[in-house]
Amino acid sequence: MNAVPAPPLHLCGIEKSFAEPSGTLRVLDGLDLTVQQSEIVVLQGPSGSGKTTLLQIAGGLLHADAGTVRLCDTDISSASEADRTAARQRHLGFVFQHFHLLDALTVEDNVALGLRLKRQPVDRARVAEVLDRLGIASKARKLPRDISGGEKQRTAFARALVGRPDLLLADEPTSQLDSHATEAITALLAEIARSWQVAVLVATHDVRLHPIANRLCRLSQGKIDA
Ligand SMILES: Nc1ncnc2c1ncn2[C@@H]1O[C@H](COP(=O)(O)OP(=O)(O)O)[C@@H](O)[C@H]1O
Ligand SMILES: [Mg+2]
Repeated sequence: MNAVPAPPLHLCGIEKSFAEPSGTLRVLDGLDLTVQQSEIVVLQGPSGSGKTTLLQIAGGLLHADAGTVRLCDTDISSASEADRTAARQRHLGFVFQHFHLLDALTVEDNVALGLRLKRQPVDRARVAEVLDRLGIASKARKLPRDISGGEKQRTAFARALVGRPDLLLADEPTSQLDSHATEAITALLAEIARSWQVAVLVATHDVRLHPIANRLCRLSQGKIDA
């Protein structure tokens, strides 16, 4: 009998506070969240509710004060630094609000960086496939300054997806985009997540992302309201 694979993301009892001049700010307060294989979860919540903090903890970029973070079969909250890095490289793709592209690299080299950062060989055919799937093959040789905001975000998605992650974390990915680009990229994201079996956790207050969600979650007072 085959063992049931672990979910791409499992957060349990997550707590996180920050020290502020006025005292301690408790941002996450015993939060639980599981994202299943191929599931698209849209995480809502007003500005300051802790969405970015949650994604950074899920992605191993920030330590929780308490709780468990599992990425597929690895508990990254208790793993060694080396095991945590290996799990992130194997399982995770990250898309940031402000694209975080390298200005001096072409679109295709920015995408290839997604493989280099995972210590994977740079497979040019794979890079070309992902550029094509995201509709930016014709921009491959351009620099970020010579493409539109929507194309920059497609490049950021391509870089996050090129290494075949199990889980894609996206933080406000449409906040810099106009309606047309937002519609195009959300439809594409849903289609790719399903066909490539990538689980997606996307933090946003953009209601235009709601239609692609398998599940909407609200972050409120440091916990998820279902
Ligand atoms: N590194 C930090 N140091 C101190 N306070 C922080 C830090 N990161 C986030 N915060 C605070 O935690 C709260 C939640 O922030 P954030 O996770 O960015 O929320 P959101 O992404 O939902 O807007 C905010 O009040 C923010 O000011
Ligand atoms: Mg944020």
